[in-house]
Amino acid sequence: MNVLGIMGSPRVGGNSDILLNQALAGAKEAGAEVEKIVLDRMKISGCKDCKKCNETGLCVLKDDMPEIHQKILEATAIVHSVPVYFFSMTAQMKAYLDRWCAFYDAEWRWQKAYYPKLRGKRIGLITVCGDPNVHMADPIVHSFKTTVEMSKMHWLGAIMASATDKGDIAANKEANQQAFDLGKKAALP
Ligand SMILES: Cc1cc2nc3c(=O)[nH]c(=O)nc-3n(C[C@H](O)[C@H](O)[C@H](O)COP(=O)(O)O)c2cc1C
Repeated sequence: MNVLGIMGSPRVGGNSDILLNQALAGAKEAGAEVEKIVLDRMKISGCKDCKKCNETGLCVLKDDMPEIHQKILEATAIVHSVPVYFFSMTAQMKAYLDRWCAFYDAEWRWQKAYYPKLRGKRIGLITVCGDPNVHMADPIVHSFKTTVEMSKMHWLGAIMASATDKGDIAANKEANQQAFDLGKKAALP
């Protein structure tokens, strides 16, 4: 059992990071091995839609994403955490998500070689927005949830929270508990 945390904010130690750490603590308590990737520290280019991966399942771009592809394949569950930037996800998270393209064939079915590892994979999401209305993050939830459902993965749900300044979310006990519980859920069989 291993749970991979994908951190989509450039603000390390910020609100998305704090909640992701909570989720990974929950997963660890439930017995999982955990690992966190800070996307902003990785080199991840945008998908070029070159379609080479449709045949091979391998992305031709020479950056850090192929290493992350391997970690995705190996993880039992993945919890993503990202703030709202202009009513959507950060550029870092979008570049990462677009590069999932390499897992699919031309008909948007999993590549045969990856199917056993990706089918049913457990995917969770944490969002943080500055607006008091957490539904500012609805487009991000839609993007992840629809991708998961289209691909017959397992949707663990989304924790949606609101905070503005770096670290403010630490005072939100409910959001921290929800994130911890999401991590636990990600790790439980
Ligand atoms: C470039 C940028 C765009 C933002 N756009 C929005 C927005 O559209 N809606 C919103 O509610 N908050 C917006 N925010 C506020 C962040 O979502 C908020 O500060 C959040 O707590 C940042 O999370 P972090 O600490 O994980 O980086 C924006 C912040 C930045 C830097």
